[in-house]
Amino acid sequence: MAEIVCIIGNKGGTGKTTLSHMLCQGMGLLGQRSICVLTDTHREPLDPEGRRYLVADARTREALGKVVDKIRSLSGWLGVIDGGGNRTEMDRKLYGLANLVLLPFRDSHEDIRTVIQDLEAFPRAWAIPSQWPTNPWQQEAAQKAIRERLGKYADRILPPIYTLSASKLLLQAQIPDKLPTPLGNACRALAYQVLDMLEVACEAPPVEEIEEAAEIEIKGEAPPTAAEGFAPAGAPSPTRH
Ligand SMILES: Nc1ncnc2c1ncn2[C@@H]1O[C@H](COP(=O)(O)OP(=O)(O)OP(=O)(O)O)[C@@H](O)[C@H]1O
Ligand SMILES: [Mg+2]
Repeated sequence: MAEIVCIIGNKGGTGKTTLSHMLCQGMGLLGQRSICVLTDTHREPLDPEGRRYLVADARTREALGKVVDKIRSLSGWLGVIDGGGNRTEMDRKLYGLANLVLLPFRDSHEDIRTVIQDLEAFPRAWAIPSQWPTNPWQQEAAQKAIRERLGKYADRILPPIYTLSASKLLLQAQIPDKLPTPLGNACRALAYQVLDMLEVACEAPPVEEIEEAAEIEIKGEAPPTAAEGFAPAGAPSPTRH
């Protein structure tokens, strides 16, 4: 059976969509098949061309049911469901069907207050610091805020996803032919962490040397085999694995 990861949380703008796509891209870089599932009715589906994963549009309740059933039937696949802020009912539903739940939060009191509520509401969920500062002074202040305000949940906080300007490239309707190496490395590391938590065996990801390969070439690479019902028009024909 496939695994389903849901990235949710009540606060908007925490990085749910970015992390969903980074995770799927990282899965592709690690040779794993994944599908990024859009549920946010305020957003449009992104073009799958050039991505190392499929995208699915599940913005209606009916479509979500179908997509989840389909993912469940695909052994070895990972479905990553991108939630939307301020949707408590949807978050509960997604929490109920996920094997792993991630709650991104940024370095702000408001985000921390909200993630505390979500950690209480969703006892199996993990908090993941998102858009985390890289400047040492800001980082120390952010870590201090975690220690002081989230200390009770210390064993449910994952390593941070640092601020990375290139991450926005994955949210473009169409991604560029080449993606920067630091983005690839961050995507791989996130995917490896998630596979580890799901207890899916995978070799440790190689870290690309920035000096040697400034960018990751993805153009011309075959995307993962499409799964029936997920591939938008023009995508490769579906095959069951
Ligand atoms: N690691 C990161 N580094 C830099 N910018 C980031 C990072 N993660 C997210 N962002 C930026 O923060 C903004 C919000 O991110 P995103 O859209 O992923 O959040 P969201 O939780 O999906 O928001 P919403 O609640 O509206 O769905 C975007 O402009 C995105 O590019
Ligand atoms: Mg979003």
